[in-house]
Amino acid sequence: MNEPQPRQQRARAILYLIGDTPLVPLRFEPEGLMIHAKSEFLNPSGSIKDRLAKGVLLDAEQRGLLRADSIILECSSGNTGIALAMVGAAMGYSVTILMSSGASVERRKLIRQLGADLILFESAGRYQTGIEISREMAAEDSRYFLTRQFENPLNVEDHEQGTGLEILRQIGGPVDAFVSGFGTGGTLAGCGKAIKRAWPNARICAMEPAEQALLAGECPCCHFIEGVADGFIPPLLRDAPLDSRIEVTSAEAMAMTRRLHREFGLLVGTSSGANIVAALRLAAELGPKATIVTLLCDRAERYFSTALFDLPGGEQTAAARPIAS
Ligand SMILES: Cc1ncc(COP(=O)(O)O)c(C=O)c1O
Repeated sequence: MNEPQPRQQRARAILYLIGDTPLVPLRFEPEGLMIHAKSEFLNPSGSIKDRLAKGVLLDAEQRGLLRADSIILECSSGNTGIALAMVGAAMGYSVTILMSSGASVERRKLIRQLGADLILFESAGRYQTGIEISREMAAEDSRYFLTRQFENPLNVEDHEQGTGLEILRQIGGPVDAFVSGFGTGGTLAGCGKAIKRAWPNARICAMEPAEQALLAGECPCCHFIEGVADGFIPPLLRDAPLDSRIEVTSAEAMAMTRRLHREFGLLVGTSSGANIVAALRLAAELGPKATIVTLLCDRAERYFSTALFDLPGGEQTAAARPIAS
């Protein structure tokens, strides 16, 4: 098989579809509350992570860090892997993703479908294992280029200059609160900085799974809000301008995600539901006039094999009818 080669600009059209996502006002009844939701699930690979993949790989290419035989390597629980596989394909680079064997099968298939290689590892819930393996691989083979999503400052800068400024432009006035979950912390730190700089009184709030409230000093434990809270406080969150935190249970997150599907027709993943639960709590506290912003992070299709889609009943088989002649 021919190795991929870096592609010319005109072959990279997909990159222009990343970012500039709509900010949609969602009116919740009977609560009588409004939330502004940045629709990151509309990015071309289906999640907010397209921004990171594009930002880091274009930067690496511009700085001469990528060669024709480079292999982009990252440890990801799913969305970053899919985003890197998509952007890597469009830019013409090989991609290898390290993923915990517990990651949903949809994510694995998408990564393979985009032409990337997948290496599964047993982690017993310990995400750091994958990061350590990726470092060892990079130390042994100079073709590997590590995107280092957990420590790369570009992850924060991209959200500060991109997502955060887009939100400010789209709201066009004061923001009272911004709330988001965190995986690497890039989104929360970057958007938080941009919003705080423009509106110093805005409350920047971290959403955490109640089963694993690390910012409250709790220990890692299992939860079902995929994409956030990987079992440690990420270094990029250290200089995030955080004012408060809100805990959301996995059950609350799933119930709200199904409500987003059925009441709003928004096919998003579980962390989006969790973000909305947290945003509604802020809205209830700050009053109906407050402008509260959060994110819809990824698409529902990524969760077909998870508990989110365990719906009882609902399907019927039509009885055979004679065809009228
Ligand atoms: C599915 C999903 N992906 C990504 C993110 C953001 O992650 P990060 O902190 O790595 O920017 C979130 C945050 O809520 C998320 O829910």
